[in-house]
Amino acid sequence: MRWRDAMRTALYGPDGFFVRERPADHFRTSAQSPHFARAIAALAADVDRALGHPSVFDLVDVGAGRGELLYGVLAALPPPLRRRVRPVAVEVSARGDDGVTWRTELPRGLTGLLLATEWLDNVPLDLTRDGSYLDTELMPCGPVDAADAAWIERWWPAGPADIVEVGRSRDEAWADAAGALDAGLALAVDYGHLRDRRPALPTATGFRDGREVPPAFDGSTDITCHVAMDSIAAAGPDQAGGRLLDQRTALHRLGVTAGRPPLALASTDPLGYVRALAEASEIAELTAAGGLGAHWWLAQWSGLDHREVPLLHPHT
Ligand SMILES: C[S@@+](CC[C@H](N)C(=O)[O-])C[C@H]1O[C@@H](n2cnc3c(N)ncnc32)[C@H](O)[C@@H]1O
Repeated sequence: MRWRDAMRTALYGPDGFFVRERPADHFRTSAQSPHFARAIAALAADVDRALGHPSVFDLVDVGAGRGELLYGVLAALPPPLRRRVRPVAVEVSARGDDGVTWRTELPRGLTGLLLATEWLDNVPLDLTRDGSYLDTELMPCGPVDAADAAWIERWWPAGPADIVEVGRSRDEAWADAAGALDAGLALAVDYGHLRDRRPALPTATGFRDGREVPPAFDGSTDITCHVAMDSIAAAGPDQAGGRLLDQRTALHRLGVTAGRPPLALASTDPLGYVRALAEASEIAELTAAGGLGAHWWLAQWSGLDHREVPLLHPHT
């Protein structure tokens, strides 16, 4: 079976991994951190200012997992904005209503902030080699169609032996999700790469119980693959391409930085010192150069000039 179809069934079919499992039980993501949520709350306040404080501010998380990020952001928002926020979690295995509206489909006509953290890497995609689609054994299983051939030509220079991870399905998913915003900011956070540094080896892999494992197509593992961030930027709603920056820089701009507490605190307030140390190490994990800090943030504006959202703007 073609890789993309097998990945779709394995993750989202009747016994699919994400239909049954809680992502946080199997891998650690930024969205699970209260410090990350605090940064997103600061960003939401910035977007709200730029929108002129609308009476309803949509806060939508696409691929929300169990809502860890949404609940964290809601807790960190300033009360006047919190009262105007309409929170929506979009998730294949939607939960009950508990102050957050859970949906399997994306609502449209939104004004506010749309989030997609580590969603696009789970959007099923094709693998190809030398003009053929590949199956789950990485064997050829049919010729690449014209649309994917054009994507490969534009985005992934490859020799005949190279495996290409075709990002066109992610481009379409992102264009559709970001297009749900009438006005505001769409933010995708994910691991990925750009055209001049595509990976030499496939990034497609599996995760289970906190460990990287070979991808299994029976629904027993996550299956993920890095994201071509420049191609999703070109597919999104922002004609200027939006802002693409690494997580470390983004979090610094939003006021989340790791600093060791002063040693003197250890004698005056030992408990406070231990707490501050733990906080610093959590932030260090979010901003680590070879880890989560290298994740990409793609911020794209709709119906709004990006200079009106200063926190992520390069010149502030
Ligand atoms: C890697 S998890 C990320 C969870 C959370 N955003 C985080 O960063 O921890 C990806 C999530 O996206 C969800 N997902 C994937 N495609 C989806 C779709 N088309 N609609 C709704 N949810 C989707 C999966 O069910 C899964 O919970």
